[in-house]
Amino acid sequence: MGRKLLTEHINVEGIDTFEVYRKHGGYRSVEKALKTMTPDEVVEEVKKSGLRGRGGAGFPTGMKWSFLAKPEGVPRYLVCNADESEPGTFKDRQLMSKLPHLLIEGMITSSYALGANTSYIYIRGELLYVLRILEKAIAEAYAAGFLGKNILGSGYDLDLYVHPGGGAYICGEETALLESLEGKRGNPRNKPPFPAVQGLYARPTVVNNVESIAAVPVIVNDGGDEYAKIGVGRSTGTKLISACGHLNKPGIYEIELGVPVEEFIYSDEYCGGIWKGRDLKAVVAGGSSVPILPKELILKTAAGEPRLMTYESLSDGGFVTGTMLGSGGFIAMDETTCIVRNTWNFSRFYHHESCGQCSPCREGTGWLEKILHRIEHGHGTERDIDVLASVAKQIEGNTICPLGEAAAWPVSAAIRHFRDEFEWHIRNPQEATRPGAVYPGKAVLV
Ligand SMILES: Cc1cc2nc3c(=O)[nH]c(=O)nc-3n(C[C@H](O)[C@H](O)[C@H](O)COP(=O)(O)O)c2cc1C
Ligand code: SF4
Repeated sequence: MGRKLLTEHINVEGIDTFEVYRKHGGYRSVEKALKTMTPDEVVEEVKKSGLRGRGGAGFPTGMKWSFLAKPEGVPRYLVCNADESEPGTFKDRQLMSKLPHLLIEGMITSSYALGANTSYIYIRGELLYVLRILEKAIAEAYAAGFLGKNILGSGYDLDLYVHPGGGAYICGEETALLESLEGKRGNPRNKPPFPAVQGLYARPTVVNNVESIAAVPVIVNDGGDEYAKIGVGRSTGTKLISACGHLNKPGIYEIELGVPVEEFIYSDEYCGGIWKGRDLKAVVAGGSSVPILPKELILKTAAGEPRLMTYESLSDGGFVTGTMLGSGGFIAMDETTCIVRNTWNFSRFYHHESCGQCSPCREGTGWLEKILHRIEHGHGTERDIDVLASVAKQIEGNTICPLGEAAAWPVSAAIRHFRDEFEWHIRNPQEATRPGAVYPGKAVLV
């Protein structure tokens, strides 16, 4: 059994209340940090832990914290990114609804480290029930003296607010999130300046994912060195993986980074194999924006090594033969899955969610959707596949924010690994659009 650092007590009755959470060791990191450590010492422990941001990009959290501009007499902010709208990723809502005090504890300890006296949890607006759970837990923390003025007599003050999101996927991008938090339309900002220099209200700001912040109490309690002992290489600690698709046991699993992908899919401890005894066809390992990999490449790297659930192993070979751990949204597809339909489905999402500020993204996502629709519905031409690949290529690197790449990568990867399936759709339009159609020997779900 892998160690559970964040979710050890998740099933304890009443763990969402301050009283029960405290009885199970809750808020120890706040006491330790505020009473025995300087803010810089907390930052140092987070650096030592090797923790990498769990929101998708995997940037080292301690390093990000150390970039925070520290001019005297100017407020600084910590903002928790709880927008979580990536298709396939649904771990943060579980953490917040079951263990609200873990996030609040992480927010207090992290805010202290960063010198922030006001912090925000920006939560996906649709998750109103989770917002209520957090508000109740925050009120309990205020009542117990863990929030507000002079916390635990340390002289440190912190106010914590929960803010419902703007209802768009783009509001999860950190600069769009800050715009939205300031009451404006959630359009991404050009970078630089980065939020560490000019973030919320043009003040130095750190934006971190829920899971990143929830790991901070563990790191402060046990020490960064202990945390760094878990995992493999630069992938330290544990990671929440939201597993869905054609699995016997879809769900949210806390894994020690480094578990082999094959074990994650097939062992009873995790997903229990592919449903209905079918064969695995492909996996999207880190949320809908990362490149899809066919069975042979998700189980083993191109060099034949077992593929591990780490940032490095999953990306081994770059995008030619690898992918990304991303936000940990693990989508498994069985042998009956139509890759063209799946890619079209993702494209519809990105076209709908483009904020429209940059033309390569605004127009390009529209073209991706249109061409994929055409191929999927039996009207594609041989030229379409190359046009698709070229549109995706032209979006990449030419936009204000990474939504452009997020829209392009699933398409270019699907063509890279499943080109024959696209060609089959185009050459056999009547067959490809027929319910129960057969692509080399497999039924296509409609
Ligand atoms: C379109 C888009 C949506 C995003 N949505 C989220 C999100 O819902 N939650 C999140 O933590 N990060 C999201 N990110 C990544 C954030 O911009 C940012 O990198 C992250 O919150 C940083 O936290 P971390 O360093 O703890 O990972 C998104 C990025 C993009 C481009
Ligand atoms: S890449 Fe797309 S979502 Fe991002 S700023 Fe440009 S138009 Fe908006």
